[in-house]
Amino acid sequence: MMRLDKFLADMALGSRKEVKKIIKKGNVKVNGKIITSDKFQVDEKCDLVFYKEEKINYQNEFYYLMNKPQGVITATTDNVDQTVMDLFQDSDYRLDLFPVGRLDKDTEGLLLITNDGPLAHHLLSPKHHVEKEYQATVSGIMSNKDVTAFFKGLTIDGDENCQPARLIIDSIDKDKEISSIRLILQEGKYHQVKRMVKAVGKEVLNLKRLRMGSLLLDENLDLGEYRELTKEEIAQLKSL
Ligand code: URA
Repeated sequence: MMRLDKFLADMALGSRKEVKKIIKKGNVKVNGKIITSDKFQVDEKCDLVFYKEEKINYQNEFYYLMNKPQGVITATTDNVDQTVMDLFQDSDYRLDLFPVGRLDKDTEGLLLITNDGPLAHHLLSPKHHVEKEYQATVSGIMSNKDVTAFFKGLTIDGDENCQPARLIIDSIDKDKEISSIRLILQEGKYHQVKRMVKAVGKEVLNLKRLRMGSLLLDENLDLGEYRELTKEEIAQLKSL
């Protein structure tokens, strides 16, 4: 059970002050009755709450999958750059949403955005070994020697040890001296892919995240678009 004003504010109908006004005006019905008291107790699991003609379902955890474009930073606010949260429509935006893990400004691809702190923590903790898969175009020719080096665990910048990572060489353009690779990591150090590639003498030209655990980048999402996760996607992530 919870107060009606909290129920509506949690559902982003407005601030607590704004929803109190909405309730006073007689715009909210609970189980068919107009309720004008903001203290009215609702059962968020079974009561039918309507704002005007719109049914308001209670949900306290939100999960979005974004195809992050380049040029946008993975932060909730910034004074200079556009952030991934700026790409949200007003109707979906909530102050408590945050991106799970960071993609660089020039990295694109899968970004999970949620207000579920425990899930985010679980997905990011190196202890839980949740895989993050990246696709990269790299200058230089990746070799089997590199595959072995990644698999053994690289040391980057002299003293930082990486957990074993899987390097898959998808194609090599010998004329242009460019390789297309996939890299599967179980941790998320700062600039990790770029630093690992640099450690074997190559350079990342383009980077895209394809997967986080069971969650795949949705190819139907254009760059900058997002959608809610399906119930199945949420259940799979929670079971990792
Ligand atoms: N590794 C990087 O170097 N950059 C990213 O954005 C993600 C992983």
